[in-house]
Amino acid sequence: MARREQTLEAAAQAEELPVEVSLRPRSFDEYVGQRDVVEKLRVYVKAAKARGGALDHCLFSGPPGLGKTSLAFIMAAELGVNVHVTSGPSLERKGDLAGLLTHLEPRDVLFIDEIHRLNAAIEEYLYPAMEDFRLDITIDTGPAARAMKIDLPPFTLVGATTRTGLLTSPLRDRFQIQERLELYSPADLERILERSARILGVTLDRTGSAEIAKRSRGTPRIANRLLRRIRDFAEVEGDGRITRQVADASLGKLQIDAHGLDPMDRKVMLTIIEKFGGGPVGVDTVAASVGEQRDTLEDVYEPYLLQEGFLQRTPRGRMATQHAFRYFGKVAPQSPQGTLL
Ligand SMILES: Nc1ncnc2c1ncn2[C@@H]1O[C@H](COP(=O)(O)OP(=O)(O)O)[C@@H](O)[C@H]1O
Ligand SMILES: [Mg+2]
Repeated sequence: MARREQTLEAAAQAEELPVEVSLRPRSFDEYVGQRDVVEKLRVYVKAAKARGGALDHCLFSGPPGLGKTSLAFIMAAELGVNVHVTSGPSLERKGDLAGLLTHLEPRDVLFIDEIHRLNAAIEEYLYPAMEDFRLDITIDTGPAARAMKIDLPPFTLVGATTRTGLLTSPLRDRFQIQERLELYSPADLERILERSARILGVTLDRTGSAEIAKRSRGTPRIANRLLRRIRDFAEVEGDGRITRQVADASLGKLQIDAHGLDPMDRKVMLTIIEKFGGGPVGVDTVAASVGEQRDTLEDVYEPYLLQEGFLQRTPRGRMATQHAFRYFGKVAPQSPQGTLL
């Protein structure tokens, strides 16, 4: 299970890597949206710089593609320090972490992506490093074993996770700054698309960016991915310019519907509606029925379906809303519990 997730994530990042690098915002000024979060972070960075100390540890959470990694790099850039990058699944041994920590310079940023996937032994090893800038290591084994403490320079740990609920509370509690990223508004996505179009040298008119923005599931990474695909259609089948018509026709071919739902979103909703009478149905059952990992369902698909009022989370499971029934042209059954929205 873990392996498959890793592969999917790696594939997603590999696909995006060459262009993603250039589309990634480099400073707070380039980072669109998430106003409240960015305003606070600007203050914390400024204060840390004025004091000349390391910034407090930061935890960023939110669905994939919302800008957590970008923010980690921006924090380091704005602090004027180096960023060292690793991820929960790739830190397999204590020595891996020790190697990273002992190479930090004062006030550097250590970014741990997917921090909820750190193994327990490494997580515990991280606690004194975060709290006291100290590593507790054991040299030798058996009777000759000695405990040693290594002092570390003050540093900032930036962690990213899809949901803070996936972290153990001792780890979560050691982040003094915790910010949750929200899905982006269509207006913010339009700004992101216009910036990306400029960087990529694509002609994207207002109606085109509005169309893509409202069909990008509130996610910059998806908006940028769609922009690149639509550019292909525009160049091969048209004159290269992306208008509303071009965007609409291309999105149709990509099977993205008018509301931005993709084939898996529709499969999830239609499964709940048709197989389970609208629910409530447990998330594990839904995941098994659509052939998707539970975590992927919860992190990637559900946030948008919940926000847009297609799906409701109840203590007894997931339910399709009246809105969902209408949207898919289905008739909602009378719920015996009368809990259907
Ligand atoms: N606030 C933003 N402003 C502009 N572009 C963004 C923003 N957030 C994300 N992006 C775009 O989306 C891509 C994915 O963001 P990333 O930081 O990798 O997301 P995450 O780490 O949360 O999965 C970035 O490379 C960038 O192109
Ligand atoms: Mg990331």
